[in-house]
Amino acid sequence: MELTKAEIRLCTRLGLSHGQAERLAAALRAGESSRSAVVLSPLAPPDYAPPFDCADTTAMPWLPPRVKVPAPGIKPAGFADYQAGLYYVLDLSSCWESAALSAVPRPERSLDLCAAPGGKTMLLCARFAPDGNHPHTANEVNAARRGILRQNLGQCGLGQVHVTGLRPDQWGSSGEQFDLILVDAPCSGQSLLAKGIRNPGCLGASVVNGNAKRQKGILLAACHCTAPGGHILYTTCTYDPDENEKVMSYIQKRVPGWHAREVPALAPYQSTLADFPAYRILPEHGYGAGGFCCLLHRSAQT
Ligand SMILES: C[S@@+](CC[C@H](N)C(=O)[O-])C[C@H]1O[C@@H](n2cnc3c(N)ncnc32)[C@H](O)[C@@H]1O
Repeated sequence: MELTKAEIRLCTRLGLSHGQAERLAAALRAGESSRSAVVLSPLAPPDYAPPFDCADTTAMPWLPPRVKVPAPGIKPAGFADYQAGLYYVLDLSSCWESAALSAVPRPERSLDLCAAPGGKTMLLCARFAPDGNHPHTANEVNAARRGILRQNLGQCGLGQVHVTGLRPDQWGSSGEQFDLILVDAPCSGQSLLAKGIRNPGCLGASVVNGNAKRQKGILLAACHCTAPGGHILYTTCTYDPDENEKVMSYIQKRVPGWHAREVPALAPYQSTLADFPAYRILPEHGYGAGGFCCLLHRSAQT
């Protein structure tokens, strides 16, 4: 298989072996790596069983609480329970990323800074407050997407979540403090290709650099409104190290008192591109189109 220049550029930056590079390029071209999961909403009782066959998840010990994986071929959005808001459908890679929350104590106050359409907020609530009773703020700068976020949360029994539309810099100067902030950052979205979604230019340097700059700005603002001893979970759905490991390195060097924290549940996925705890999966892992996550901790003494 002959790789394109853009594929070679990405695979070289990821330090992939020849075999891994061929598998990634094949996945990007085939566009068939999407794998869905469902997160149960507060409307689903503790003993709720979805109305479809589920996959065997014994090989996924990291699977977050109240997340089910439909058996291959099942389309979970096609059931009445989905319309009734008993569960929300999202990519399995997104659930894998949120497994990093297993290393975080239950927060008093949490903020999802880039929240629409709402998947990460639902995963956070399912973990820390399955009854939906938790002081959580879901923020989305884009008005149209904020409407979708509100609708999804309302449908899934999370209408009490406080929905806002501030820019990150406005949060940074607000004086508000949270114990946990989710930054599921806007990114070049290279993994969309592995899902069969067109995303022209996403492998190019200018798109990657522009996103890396924006991600650093969002994170610096998030650091300002994290309480001492608090956490930021940084996640993306893109592969390039400039938007992942290098952004995490930048924050740890630039902002005193911040360090990446180990997530024992994700240890097998430690990034070989980082000398601190940071985790990544590719389509070849079989958990969807891939993703990156890193849990940043603010020392209690700062
Ligand atoms: C990856 S998506 C979030 C997905 C969401 N967390 C979920 O799990 O459903 C990134 C979001 O960031 C928003 N966004 C774009 N530019 C932004 C910026 N400069 N600051 C904050 N959010 C931004 C986008 O509108 C988009 O909704």
